[in-house]
Order: sequence, then structure tokens, then C-alpha cells
Amino acid sequence: MNTKYVLYDELKIFYKIDKYETYPPHEDSFLMTEYLGNIVIGKKVLDMGCGSGIQGIISKKYGSNYITFADIDRDALVISKYNYTYNFVDSSVTLNSLKEYTLENAEFILTDLFRNINKKYDLILFNPPYLPAAGDEDEKSKLWTAGGKTGNEIIDNFLSDAYKYLNNNGCILLLVSSLSNPPYILSKYSKLYKFKVVKKLKLFFEELILIELFPKF
Ligand SMILES: C[S@@+](CC[C@H](N)C(=O)[O-])C[C@H]1O[C@@H](n2cnc3c(N)ncnc32)[C@H](O)[C@@H]1O
Repeated sequence: MNTKYVLYDELKIFYKIDKYETYPPHEDSFLMTEYLGNIVIGKKVLDMGCGSGIQGIISKKYGSNYITFADIDRDALVISKYNYTYNFVDSSVTLNSLKEYTLENAEFILTDLFRNINKKYDLILFNPPYLPAAGDEDEKSKLWTAGGKTGNEIIDNFLSDAYKYLNNNGCILLLVSSLSNPPYILSKYSKLYKFKVVKKLKLFFEELILIELFPKF
């Protein structure tokens, strides 16, 4: 197989396998994974926009008891299922044998945000496409990074529904960037959610901000 992967926390996370390709884990991915060990134990987790599945895979490693991997891109779901199977079930899995594995505590859903989601979760993770669209990206980069004209469109649609998919005491972990005007989002949803900034990372051209959100009801 022609593959590309990263080694992370003693796991092998593939992001390209033959014709299937998804978002290669970056600093934004790692800012979120580094926080998960603190909060996932015993939780039912939704990994929205799962890409390689790195957030759900790390959640599993640190004790989450059920994970839904969700993405609008079929490649991401194939790769997430491959990564889950390879790291936790059978490292001899191949793309051809992947469909033979039924995984008890994980599911893989092709969906545009919550359209095909019908469960509730203790924790919803989303490292979204958050950059203002440049207009000249190829189809894959657009899916991975472009959050509409201002960068906020997908986050906006996500937050307007996410609270409906949380169990009592559930929360959301969301990554935003200084490039997509986080104050706009925070003030628009201040009646619906309490926010807590839990991590920040300054990069050359932007600051990444990891936020926990709790519904106010
Ligand atoms: C920045 S990548 C994050 C990937 C991975 N979660 C990580 O942390 O490395 C954003 C992911 O969101 C997915 N995505 C984009 N729009 C979506 C939508 N409307 N519904 C679900 N997933 C979406 C993309 O396909 C991509 O896999």
C-alpha cells in the first residue's frame, strides 16, 4: 500500500492510503489531542470532521467508551476506520479486508455536520475548517480548511445545532483561529453557551484557540 502517516503518542495515524486521502494532522489537531487525556474517560464522544480520526483515536486511547467518527468526505471515514482497526484491533488489516471488521464501540458516519447524526454525546469534538476561503483552493484543501467567506460559516452552523446533540452535563471542544474573528462567534452564541478558553498556541501567522463550551440550560 502507498501510505503516509504520522507517529503520535505511540500510535500510527495514517492520512493517505492508496487513493484515499484526508487532512494530515497539523498543529491544530495536536493542540486538541493534547487536551483530550483530561476529559474523555468514560465518555461517549462525537469526532465531528474526523479527517484521519486522530481526535477519536486519542479519545479511545484515553478511555472514551464509544466514538462516532463523522465527516462529509468519504475518504476520511475509510481512513478513520482503518486507523481505529490498525491501532486497536489488528495491525495486519488491509484496505480490502477493512469491511470485514465490525467494531463494537465505534461507528463511521458520512454527514454534513449533524444531518445524519441521531445520537446524543457527552463530548463533541470539532477541529473545523476555519480559514477564510481563498477561492482558488483545490477541492480537498477547501474541505479541510475553508470555513466560508469569513472562515466562520461552518463553525456558525455547527454551534447553532451542537447543543441539541449533548447529554446532560455534556460539552463541546472546539478549535478556532484568530484569523476567523472568534469574538464574532463568542458573542453570537453567548446566550446559548458558556465558554472557557483551555489552550492557546501562537503560530507565525495566527493564534489557535481551544475552547470548551457548555450549554446554558
Ligand atoms: C481541519 S480538518 C480536521 C481533521 C481532524 N479532525 C484533525 O483534527 O486533524 C477538518 C475536517 O472537517 C471535515 N468537514 C468539512 N466540512 C464538513 C461538514 N460540513 N460536515 C462534516 N465534516 C466536515 C473535512 O472533511 C476535514 O476532515
